[in-house]
Formats: sequence, C-alpha cells, structure tokens
Amino acid sequence: SAQDAAKGEAVFKQCMTCHRADKNMVGPALGGVVGRKAGTAAGFTYSPLNHNSGEAGLVWTQENIIAYLPDPNAYLKKFLTDKGQADKATGSTKMTFKLANDQQRKDVAAYLATLK
Ligand code: HEM
Repeated sequence: SAQDAAKGEAVFKQCMTCHRADKNMVGPALGGVVGRKAGTAAGFTYSPLNHNSGEAGLVWTQENIIAYLPDPNAYLKKFLTDKGQADKATGSTKMTFKLANDQQRKDVAAYLATLK
C-alpha cells in the first residue's frame, strides 16, 4: 500500500544501530540522503564499492533506496556492472544490514525523505 513516513520512523529504529540523521556513526549520516550522491556524507570513510557507485552516477532516491535495502551489496555491484564498470565492483559494502519487507522499505524511504 501507500508509503507512510510515520510508520517509517518506527522502522528507522532498526537503522539507528548504525545511523543517525545528523552525524556519522558506524554508518554515514542519513539526513539529506534522498537526493545525495552515494558515498558523499562529509567525513565518512566508505567502502570502495559504495564510493565507486557514487562516482559512477548513483544518486539516492526513495525508489533506489527501496531497491537497495534487500541486498545492498548485490545492488551496488549490479549498479556498477550495468554502468559498464564491473572492474570497479570490487569488495563488499560495509552495510551488512538487509531489510526484506517491502512495506517497511517503502515506509522507511518516505521517512528518510523527511530528514534534513
Ligand atoms: C550505508 C541506509 C541500516 C551500516 C547506507 C546507505 C544507505 C543506508 C542509503 C548509503 C549511504 C551513502 O551512500 O551515503 C540504511 C537504512 C537502514 C540501514 C535505511 C535501515 C533500514 C544499517 C545498519 C547498519 C548500517 C543496521 C549496521 C549494522 C551502514 C554502513 C554504511 C551504510 C557501514 C556504509 C557502507 C559502505 O561504506 O560500504 N545505509 N542503513 N546500516 N550503512 Fe546503512
């Protein structure tokens, strides 16, 4: 069904093991992530895989975050491969968390879009 940012705020509690809106922790700050080039949170040291995806043109949207969350590693490798940059699809993302539930992914993406 439709996206619900309020429900997404509850889903985001799972992300808060590693992420905050306003600061880097284990994961990069996610305030403003929707519309941001991948791998560019100031001061965060990304994996080459995440960094290279941004350099190859990945900009986060609600739609591609929904597609990324079930298997971040596979998503980034496919993105680079589809861009003809399989040589840059090296190593693994440091984001080991996966979110399978489709409704939860839609809701958390809507919530992320509210974070500045
Ligand atoms: C990266 C979202 C849960 C650790 C990212 C990125 C997004 C994201 C969009 C890419 C950011 C960028 O390119 O600037 C989420 C969401 C979560 C979640 C929505 C919950 C549903 C987690 C959890 C952990 C984690 C629980 C730790 C166990 C990381 C790390 C990175 C990352 C370390 C950097 C990856 C790299 O450099 O390869 N996350 N995340 N995330 N996340 Fe998460």
